[in-house]
Amino acid sequence: MVSTVQIASGGPILSRLVYGVWRMAEWGLTPAEIRDMVEMLLEMGVTTFDHADIYGDYSCEQLFGEALAGDKVLRQKMQLVTKCGIKLVSANRPEHKLKYYDTTHNHIISSVETSLRNLKTETIDLLLIHRPDPLMNPDEVAGAFDELRQAGKVQFFGVSNFSAAQFELLASRLDFPLVTNQIELSAMDMTALHDGTVDHCLRRGVSPMAWSPFAGGRLFASDTPQAVRLRRVLGQIGDRLGGAAIDQVALAWLLYHPARILPVLGTGKVERVKTAIQSESLNLTREDWFEIWSASTGTEVP
Ligand SMILES: NC(=O)c1ccc[n+]([C@@H]2O[C@H](COP(=O)([O-])OP(=O)(O)OC[C@H]3O[C@@H](n4cnc5c(N)ncnc54)[C@H](OP(=O)(O)O)[C@@H]3O)[C@@H](O)[C@H]2O)c1
Repeated sequence: MVSTVQIASGGPILSRLVYGVWRMAEWGLTPAEIRDMVEMLLEMGVTTFDHADIYGDYSCEQLFGEALAGDKVLRQKMQLVTKCGIKLVSANRPEHKLKYYDTTHNHIISSVETSLRNLKTETIDLLLIHRPDPLMNPDEVAGAFDELRQAGKVQFFGVSNFSAAQFELLASRLDFPLVTNQIELSAMDMTALHDGTVDHCLRRGVSPMAWSPFAGGRLFASDTPQAVRLRRVLGQIGDRLGGAAIDQVALAWLLYHPARILPVLGTGKVERVKTAIQSESLNLTREDWFEIWSASTGTEVP
């Protein structure tokens, strides 16, 4: 079973491994198959599902909602995360002329209303602003968040892909805490470890959620020198740990960090989640962690 973690003081309790459904529309599953998958994930303790209004060209929330069919018992067993703030050019949104960011009060409220309808739920556990918007008016976002919170439509709020300064700006206008920053982070992309983003989460006491923990699959498929080095080192460490697979060691590397990172898995294969959850019981050493860091950068630490 996957463990749970309270991602901020007074914040929500989520499963340590989160299941991301960005790619779900590509899997071609029927509602019954999605429901089966969700039930299997819940049995493993993977109870947190990461959505966005735009996933699957605005179709994933609806697919998921149809599979759940408003089943309140099932709903109570999970935490639903979704995002808003990006507008895509899409046949499903013919009024959009270009891709841009919209964090206005009206867009946030209407996006959440649509998410609630599509997911067939009365409340969203955690709403994130998907990307930092150069035109963000923090007072306006705070007003929208407050309204959603008062109405019980959203329980907790966070951000995604925000810098420390952007996080602080929005947090400064809220009467309640932001509970996470969902960021790109993996052994292939360690930017957030070195640009202050993860340090800021630690200072704030919020657990970051790490999207693309396998670099969107490039960790397994890419022929770049970095990916080749990483596969070799992750494999060697896995062997030393008694035969752990590359994906398990790559997740254990994220879990080792004191920021209590929550990897957001993107696989469409439940079997791979079954393997992934064993990463929690791998005991990496500090030396292993830095060996992976060095395989990623191609150098020893300065
Ligand atoms: N906030 C943001 O801006 C943002 C951005 C991107 C993503 N996200 C979230 O993060 C989630 C995960 O992102 P992601 O899908 O890029 O994550 P990922 O887990 O790094 O990549 C998933 C890809 O890797 C493949 N894969 C996974 N495990 C594998 C294994 N053991 N061997 C070979 N291939 C493997 C999957 O293929 P199979 O399906 O065949 O296993 C899939 O194509 C998304 O669903 C979304 O919820 C958020």
